[in-house]
Amino acid sequence: MKTTFSIIKADVGGCPGHSIVNEDLLEVAYEKLSEGVESGIIKDFFVTNCGDDLELIMTHDKGEDNEEVHGLAWDTFTAATEVAKERAFYGAGQDLLKDAFSGNIKGMGPGVAEMTFTERKSEPIIAFLMDKTEPGAFNFPIFKIFADPFNTAGLVIDPSLHSGFVFEVWDILEHKRVFMKTPEEMYDLLALIGAKSRFVIKRIFPKEGGKLPDDEPVASISTEKLFHIAGEYIGKDDPVAAVRAQSGLPALGEVLEPFAFPYLVSGWMRGSHNGPIMPVPTYQAKCTRFDGPPRVVALGFQLKNGILTGWEDLFDDPAFDMTRQKAQEVADYMRRHGPFEPHRLPLEDMEYTTLPKVMEKLRDRFEEV
Ligand code: F6R
Ligand code: MG
Ligand code: MG
Repeated sequence: MKTTFSIIKADVGGCPGHSIVNEDLLEVAYEKLSEGVESGIIKDFFVTNCGDDLELIMTHDKGEDNEEVHGLAWDTFTAATEVAKERAFYGAGQDLLKDAFSGNIKGMGPGVAEMTFTERKSEPIIAFLMDKTEPGAFNFPIFKIFADPFNTAGLVIDPSLHSGFVFEVWDILEHKRVFMKTPEEMYDLLALIGAKSRFVIKRIFPKEGGKLPDDEPVASISTEKLFHIAGEYIGKDDPVAAVRAQSGLPALGEVLEPFAFPYLVSGWMRGSHNGPIMPVPTYQAKCTRFDGPPRVVALGFQLKNGILTGWEDLFDDPAFDMTRQKAQEVADYMRRHGPFEPHRLPLEDMEYTTLPKVMEKLRDRFEEV
């Protein structure tokens, strides 16, 4: 049978500031999605947050871009926004950029990572949720998981992974996409995805002739850019991703391995700074120091007939203590640069922030030299 796994997220208000989603909003979301199960729109769900982002993880059999499922997510965010507004939580309704739902939640503000696939005998799947960063933050770990033999032992050892994977990469400025094969096109692929503010990995597919169908994704990442929708700075586009694991795919531990390194991502304070991404359990996913540092949460599920039969908060583990420690050292090191690059993002990335408004004020004072 085919199941669709949908992660739809939005920042509909933080408490306090941009730090975290209040418990009461999570409760509203829980109630709304319970109604969605009762009315048969979705089969199962999980509600959580990463920092100030409300995360709806849903399973159903309606496929991607489904109007009912997206409508349910929109209604859930709207209901949570009402509570956030009543309580004057910060940035209430921030990511809901349109007034009325128009059939597909994409392009309306929330971030979406969905994939439809034939369930295997046992289907482990991981939901990654990030706060205070952008979709390109997934390029590094997704590349490592599916293409780096120093990360994923299975690429070397397991014949069913040996042939590699197909990467669907989006140019989010030009609105184009390209499919690239690894390992044979690995260098070309890296030439693109190293430029993570422009080229982002959207999906991963198995190669033809392998153990898994080559037209069903094994990973999917949200690529929504709020700036492109709103035309002004709203906040970073805190991304989410879903990754399937095991038997013919990277093992659970190979999927988590890249996060043992707190690599640099852009976002953090005012969406304008480079900083380390820190893997944390959900109860530590609150953005505090300098509105960060950026966080990533990993929730692992088992699926059966579209039902989430069990789950685990995967970074709630001392195995990631050293990474968190290192992330804090890197955070401290980066902070010492204050407003200087490369802690602050380069000018072309600052275009999507509030800085141009400051620059505008100085424009007329420049003389020819
Ligand atoms: C980053 C983020 C925060 C805010 C910052 C200023 O994505 O959301 O770092 O940019 O707290 O927020 P305002 O301008 O709302 O006071
Ligand atoms: Mg916010
Ligand atoms: Mg956020």
